[in-house]
Amino acid sequence: MGNSDDRAGKAELDVLLQTEQTFPPPPDFAASANAADPEIYARAAADPEAWWASWADQLAWITPYRQVLDWSEPPFARWFDGGTLNASVNCLDRHVGAGNGERVAYFWEGEDGSRRVITYGDLLDQTQRFANALRGLGIGKGDVVGIFMPMVPEAVVAMLACARIGAIHNVVFGGFSAGAVAERMEVSKAKALVTADATLRRGKPVAMKAEVDRTIAAANSIETIVVVDRCDTDPPMQPGRDHLWSELIAAADAFCEPEPMDSEDPLFILYTSGSTAKPKGIQHTTAGYLTGVTATHRLVFDLKADDVYWCAADIGWITGHSYIVYGPLANGAVSVLYEGAPNYPAEDRWWEIAARYGVTIFYTAPTAIRACMKWGVEQPRRHDLSTLRLLGSVGEPINPKAWLWYHAEIGGGRCPIVDTWWQTETGAIMIAPLPGLTTTKPGSATVPFPGVEAKILDSSGHEIGEGGGNLVLTKPWPAMARTLYGEPERFVSTYWERYGRDVYLVGDAARRDEDGYFWIVGRIDDVINVSGHRLSTMEIESAIVGHSGVAEAAVIGVPDELTGEAIFAFVTPVGGVVGDDDLSAAIERHVAAKIGKLARPKRIAFADDLPKTRSGKIIRRLLRDIAAGNELGDVTTLRDPDVVAQLQRQIAAPRSG
Ligand code: WT7
Repeated sequence: MGNSDDRAGKAELDVLLQTEQTFPPPPDFAASANAADPEIYARAAADPEAWWASWADQLAWITPYRQVLDWSEPPFARWFDGGTLNASVNCLDRHVGAGNGERVAYFWEGEDGSRRVITYGDLLDQTQRFANALRGLGIGKGDVVGIFMPMVPEAVVAMLACARIGAIHNVVFGGFSAGAVAERMEVSKAKALVTADATLRRGKPVAMKAEVDRTIAAANSIETIVVVDRCDTDPPMQPGRDHLWSELIAAADAFCEPEPMDSEDPLFILYTSGSTAKPKGIQHTTAGYLTGVTATHRLVFDLKADDVYWCAADIGWITGHSYIVYGPLANGAVSVLYEGAPNYPAEDRWWEIAARYGVTIFYTAPTAIRACMKWGVEQPRRHDLSTLRLLGSVGEPINPKAWLWYHAEIGGGRCPIVDTWWQTETGAIMIAPLPGLTTTKPGSATVPFPGVEAKILDSSGHEIGEGGGNLVLTKPWPAMARTLYGEPERFVSTYWERYGRDVYLVGDAARRDEDGYFWIVGRIDDVINVSGHRLSTMEIESAIVGHSGVAEAAVIGVPDELTGEAIFAFVTPVGGVVGDDDLSAAIERHVAAKIGKLARPKRIAFADDLPKTRSGKIIRRLLRDIAAGNELGDVTTLRDPDVVAQLQRQIAAPRSG
């Protein structure tokens, strides 16, 4: 974490602060906003437990809770202890019970143009049937169920069916490789996996089930695989182990009694990257998580009954869990769910969909906004986007240029933008504007959500009022991760040791300006953020050295105009021969197979050795300077000064291939 100070350095801040424009809430927006009273912040700060309880009390409880918060053994918080509830009931039954069974939960749009309208009643019916099917397959409370699916409604149904019977879902992003799926199933001891025959990628089916078959043998905890037929590709099925979704649903009972879950019972785990090669199983609970996503979704997105809400993330990331599934459904929202890429079959696909459904709230990532900028303003201008009234951003810092483009070209200059900072670990949005109250500054996630307390600390733990340092959260919040699945010690040492057991170390460097606004600068650990996707340098390095032609590898993140950061790999080939394009291509394929295409290095440089100290430690700072083409100064103290020149020659040369 030694580089936090220079990462939070002044040069980067200057870039972020290039624009001095500020955007107060439009008066008509403010007048009817869900959060319209600025006192909300002071009230929540004065009594955070009462504030969060006011949201928990809006959930449907089977038995009421006895205590709002037990923080007697930090960092292991207990929220709403003594209560029981069921997440699927909160997302479905209570809306149907209130007479809203015909209300649309999702307008689903397939990549191939197919469309389905799924009401809350439909979703409840499917969820109960699939929950019964899972029970029939011997899955029950506390069992882990993997989900590796395209963005189809069945993915949501699978998650809710797990919630209904108390099984813990473990969703793996559909863009990961089957090898990554197998690893995540194995470490979580998953009993079942729900997948699809294939997923559509730009019009072509890409096999999922057959790929899973090739890797899952190692994950022998899997007893059952359920297969959704998405692409009609007739995948291999192993009798006894594999079942077709459609057959299970057809045979299942329509009514499924929901499992009463304790507030603190796990709802799901979701693996994310950390500083080591081993992914972390972030574990979230039932009541606290639902409370957090309900409150943030309603206030940050200003959700109203007549909104058409679209979060364009994937269900396989925390953004999809919290703001496609649980938050919107708990709030009874009408959502759009889109399966494919933003530029398939054409670069105006998103805007065509937004116009068709009259989307009012749109939430995406800066990297996607930058891609849209590249495709040109003609694309959105071809469609009527006048129903939009609020825009959101998530996943990485949004550069002011992209912010201003989003505001002008997508929002027509009238929509507030909520830049939402949070993490897989925080479960829900932590720092973001309340769009009817907060004046926004392009590039800043602005201020903590009511009830959340964030600070910037220096390396010795002193608070920095104005300036840069380590971002921390200093009060427990209901949607906080409770542990790392099966690794409580790692949970403590990763997040809760640096500044004490009641201070959450975020892992981001940030700055606070004179108005108390937070500006996220970047990670302080060995995590690379590519297109808002979190990847561990160690995980990529271990995938690269897994290739037989590679002796050693070091990976860094370098700034990239489109993806925020890009992966740069420094590789020593076996035998010290300098690598060629064939080896580059082989390494890329290897990483794609081990982790997924999203982890492929954008550039690879080869040398006989990596720049190391005499004691053999790789000097990563030097790798960053080499990648940036900076002057290096004295390198004679290196073990092998010659490798630096080898690498520099490749950086200077235009990339081949
Ligand atoms: C990391 C968490 C939260 C869902 C998507 C990512 C970065 C996230 C922002 C933002 C600047 C952001 C941080 C954070 N990040 N949102 N609005 N501004 N940076 O979840 O994969 O758990 O990654 O993403 O570095 O620590 P995740």
